[in-house]
Amino acid sequence: MAGVIGIIGGTGPEGKGLALRFALAGERVVIGSREEARAREAAASLASLAPHGSIRGTTNIDVALETDIIVISVPYEAQKDILHALKDALAGKVVVCVVAPLVFVKGWASAVSVPEGSAAKEEQALLPRSRIVAAFQNVSARDLLDPARSVEADVIVCSDDVDAKKQVMALAQRIPGVRGVDGGGLDNARYVEDLTALLLNINRIYKAHSSIKIVGI
Ligand SMILES: NC(=O)c1ccc[n+]([C@@H]2O[C@H](COP(=O)([O-])OP(=O)(O)OC[C@H]3O[C@@H](n4cnc5c(N)ncnc54)[C@H](OP(=O)(O)O)[C@@H]3O)[C@@H](O)[C@H]2O)c1
Repeated sequence: MAGVIGIIGGTGPEGKGLALRFALAGERVVIGSREEARAREAAASLASLAPHGSIRGTTNIDVALETDIIVISVPYEAQKDILHALKDALAGKVVVCVVAPLVFVKGWASAVSVPEGSAAKEEQALLPRSRIVAAFQNVSARDLLDPARSVEADVIVCSDDVDAKKQVMALAQRIPGVRGVDGGGLDNARYVEDLTALLLNINRIYKAHSSIKIVGI
């Protein structure tokens, strides 16, 4: 793919997992953190797993300024403040929302109601000059961080920007086992985000690792 992929909050398991998979696919990846040292450390920890890939670490602001497709991989509670701070740097860029707003009660997950309808729609309201795409909310970090494992999953990709959506579907398919599925406009992101809670609860019931596949298309 043309361009460099950035991960805001890339020191967490989901961001590291995506960074690893993109680097293994031959993409150039930059991990971001509030602390540059933490980002460098996370990048170094992945380098041995993707010896032929390109992963480096820097601050979140430099990721937003220097990269072309930027994944937002922070907890839902953190996204408002961080996106407010990065708003200008992210203008005109493809911004990928992987956020699934969840709470856990006695070990069971439930989806948090977001006033805008979804975390992705909230990102759109916070970043009106960016090209928001929702994707990867149902892909577990555990699967991503095991490079020996094929990630058997459909990634449903939602956006109102048709070209940005195509770019992210193509990116998803660089991960072995993943199929990118066109999920329509950003309004549909709420259903994908909510599914994450269901998958986590199914995992608990079956002591397993579930993912989703859409049939009939
Ligand atoms: N984990 C999964 O399996 C999974 C699966 C699908 C989707 N997701 C979604 O992916 C996102 C990231 O998940 P995760 O498990 O990697 O999360 P996480 O470990 O809780 O957080 C990721 C990173 O966000 C940064 N961060 C934390 N609090 C922050 C704050 N208040 N302000 C700014 N940055 C903050 C931290 O980086 P620094 O301290 O280095 O700045 C942290 O390493 C979440 O929205 C989650 O819903 C996760």
